[in-house]
Order: sequence, then C-alpha cells, then structure tokens
Amino acid sequence: MTTSVLSVASEVFPLIKTGGLADVAGALPLALAEHGFAVRTLMPGYPDVLKRVGRGKIACRFANLFGGKAEILAVRYGELDLLVLDAPHLFDRPGGPYVTPAGYDHPDNWARFAALSKAGAAVAQGAIAGFSPDIVHAHDWQAALTPVYLAVSNKPRPRTVVTIHNLAFQGNYPSSIFADLGLPATTWSIEGVEYYGNVGYLKGGLHAADVVTTVSPTYAEEILTPEGGMGLDGLLRGLGDRLVGIVNGIDVEVWDPQSDPAIAKAYSARSPKARSHNKRALEGEFGLRRDDGPIFAVVSRLTWQKGLDLVANACDDLVERGIRLVVVGSGDQMIEGQFLAAHARHPDRVGVRIGYDETLSHRVQAGADAILIPSRFEPCGLTQLYGLRYGCIPIVTKVGGLADTVIDANYAATSAGVATGIIFSPPAAPALVEAAERAHRLYDDGKRWRDMQICAMNADVSWRASARLYADLYRDLIKE
Ligand code: ADP
Ligand code: GLC
Repeated sequence: MTTSVLSVASEVFPLIKTGGLADVAGALPLALAEHGFAVRTLMPGYPDVLKRVGRGKIACRFANLFGGKAEILAVRYGELDLLVLDAPHLFDRPGGPYVTPAGYDHPDNWARFAALSKAGAAVAQGAIAGFSPDIVHAHDWQAALTPVYLAVSNKPRPRTVVTIHNLAFQGNYPSSIFADLGLPATTWSIEGVEYYGNVGYLKGGLHAADVVTTVSPTYAEEILTPEGGMGLDGLLRGLGDRLVGIVNGIDVEVWDPQSDPAIAKAYSARSPKARSHNKRALEGEFGLRRDDGPIFAVVSRLTWQKGLDLVANACDDLVERGIRLVVVGSGDQMIEGQFLAAHARHPDRVGVRIGYDETLSHRVQAGADAILIPSRFEPCGLTQLYGLRYGCIPIVTKVGGLADTVIDANYAATSAGVATGIIFSPPAAPALVEAAERAHRLYDDGKRWRDMQICAMNADVSWRASARLYADLYRDLIKE
C-alpha cells in the first residue's frame, strides 16, 4: 500500500537552491518512493520556479492568504510531484528566496513563510480533493508553523515531523506580528510560539511536531548542549527520544563522475587516474600554474559557520607548502575580500570565483584533490559527500555530520584500508594547516592517497540507508 506524505520546504533542487536544504528536499522524495511512500512537495511559487514548471493545474484556492489571493498549482517536474504556492503578493518579486536584490531579508518574510505553513496545514487537512496525507514533513523554520497550525485545529490531522537543517536559522520575529498569524491566543505561551518575548517559528514547530529530526546523529547530540543548542537546547533536551538524527544522503545520479555532463572526463573508482584530465581542466579554468602538487578546494557559503575565515587567513601558509587553492563561493564580504586579495598575491596558485555556480561545483569536485570544510558547526554537510563520491578527499573538522560521514586517515584506518578523508580539531588555523600538511604527505605517497580515493568513492553516500530510517520513522508514527 502506498502511504502519502506532504513535504513542505522553502527550496527544492533543481528548481531553486541556496544550500543543502534544497538538495535534501529534492532528493529524499525520490528515495522514499522506493519504500512505498508517495511524497508531494509544497513549495513557494518564486518567479523562477513558476517560469520553469509552467501553470500546471489549480489544485486549490485561497481567497485571502496573508493579504492576497493565492492558488496551489499541482505540477510534475521530472520525478517530483509538486504543489506550488502561487501567491504573487508574497513571492512574485526580484531577489533570492529570502533576500532582496540588495541582500537584505525581505521585510515580510514572517508573512511569506507563515503563509507557506498555513497553506501546508490546509493541504494536510484536505484542501486538495483526493489528497489526504498520512504524514506531514516540514523542513526548517520556513515550514515549521505547519504543525503549529495543525495542532490548534480541531479537525483530524496527520502525524507531523519537523526537520532541523540548521539551528542557526530559527525564524524569530517581534511579538507585534503574532496577531496577524491567525493563531489562537493560547499559542502565545511557552508550549506555543512565544520565545523570549518574540514569536519563534522553529521553536513553535519543535513543540508542536510529533517527531523532530535533524540531519546527523552527532548534530542531534551537539544541539542538546548550551554551546550547540543556540537557545533551544532546553526544549530539545525535553524532547527525549522524540528527537532523532538521520544523516543526509545525496542524489547519486545527479552526482555521478561516470556520467556527469559537467566534467571534462568521466571516471570511476575503477579508473581514478582518469581524474587527472579533470585536474588539468580545472588548472586551465582557474589559470593555475601546472605542477605536481595538490589542489585543495572550497565550494561553500563563505561564512563564519563554515570556518572559511580560517582558510582565508591560512592561504599564504598553504601556498608556501606547495598547495594550490580553488575557491568557489559567496557570502561574508570580508572573507570574499580576503580570498580575492590572496588571489592577487598568488594569481597562479589561488583561483577564486565569487558567486554561485552549480556546474562549476561539479568540475571542482572532479578536478581538485581535496575539499576543505573547516566548519565550526555542521548539521550534516553535503559537500563532503560530493567529495567522497568524486574522490575529492574531504578535509573536515570533527563536528556534526562531518564527523559522522568521513573516516579519518589515522594509522588504524589506513592500515585497515578504510580511511576516506582527514578529520581535524579544533576549528582553528594551526589545526587546519596541520591537517593540510598531513593530507599533503599522503598525497605525496601516491599509493596511500589513491587507496583512500578509491575507498572514498566506494563509500555509500546515497539515500539508501537513510531513506529506510525515515520510512521506519514514518511507519512507527502512523502506527502510534
Ligand atoms: P549549507 O546548506 O549549510 O550551505 P551543505 O554542505 O549542506 O551546506 O550544502 C551546500 C550546497 O550548496 C552543496 O550542494 C554545495 O555544492 C552548494 N554550494 C555552496 N556554495 C556554492 C557555490 N558558490 N556554487 C555552487 N554550489 C555551491
Ligand atoms: C543546512 C546545514 C547543512 C546541511 C543542510 C541539509 O544548510 O547547514 O549542514 O547539510 O542543511 O540538511
């Protein structure tokens, strides 16, 4: 029997993406299909999304959704079964999903994502004829009011799951918006959305959900501590076994070095030497000098969370040690500036592209020798998984999902032939440089590096195991 699931997310690959959330929201439904779950995904109708999916079929209408008319369009896009919330007064505007063209938060984000959640709750309770989901799965703060709206309704409701992709983003707004959310006064409480005198979207969702998941077992532990909990650790500790950590997978068809149309030459774990064509191509693309040394790469939001100030500060040290660097990313202007300055100092050893470029990210994973991910915290992280899949050795800090997905090349692991990367701690420049040196020594060894590459490429980074865990969790919830 097929069980139906409504997933609610503010970004979904390949339609709109600012980070890993989109990759997960786009890939998990396909993996769950293999376990007998039919997932429909509700997402906002941003201009780019509507342009790409077309008009579809109107599945339901709202006469007034936070200040204007709205419709939900039912469309298929590739293998995704989408419900697109077309609410022009909220989503038809320039800029990114969350920010204006100048990079500031849209001032009405509180209404835009309360609307997404309210529409989610309506769909969960039968607003679309013939669709009554058994499970509603809301991702991050943007969808977290969905279970709150459901909890206060007196109609029957499906079971609810909220997934925390990053506790740093909580959706906190001043109390003045509360009256416009259409929630009963009783939700202005510790068990509701009230959060230190503000309205907390994620906070409310965590309370209301039947189960809360996060994207790795280690992050599920870290967020129970005051340092990792970002103000919510008390609430999270109170969840007990209603909080579960399930590591993300990746779409191994989109990310497959054997068939990737973006890269210069296809290769696999059986032919890792063919990677060298991609390395040469990368040197060409970034104007790097050709030599026998390694290329280490960064593909990331350039932020404090990602620890990329550490790499920016260590550029000269790394170059001095014969390491060339390729950086693709955007974010913090100070870090962007530091990388551009490093490029100016070492134009043929440090290549920098400020911006977001999906296909370039594939070429980097295929051509660089290692990918640097010195995150200060990392709920899961997907770039290390892409690195493993492409034989681009991850050099990562010992936090969150990085610690759960990479096997450090220590003596035991290399002797046993199971190492897949380099793990270091703490997230600080000296440890980073030391880790880079350790990677360089392994690289110079040739054979040990190649063994590690093959091991990395053979690691199972697909959704297979984790989709099963979500499937079991859904089934247990339905049974309860
Ligand atoms: P987060 O979601 O915290 O940014 P993840 O590692 O989970 O971190 O996911 C980041 C995703 O965004 C990956 O798919 C990565 O390849 C992609 N990405 C980040 N920055 C860029 C960029 N500048 N160009 C292309 N892809 C990028
Ligand atoms: C968030 C996290 C990242 C995670 C992604 C997908 O953006 O920062 O670690 O991989 O969500 O779950």
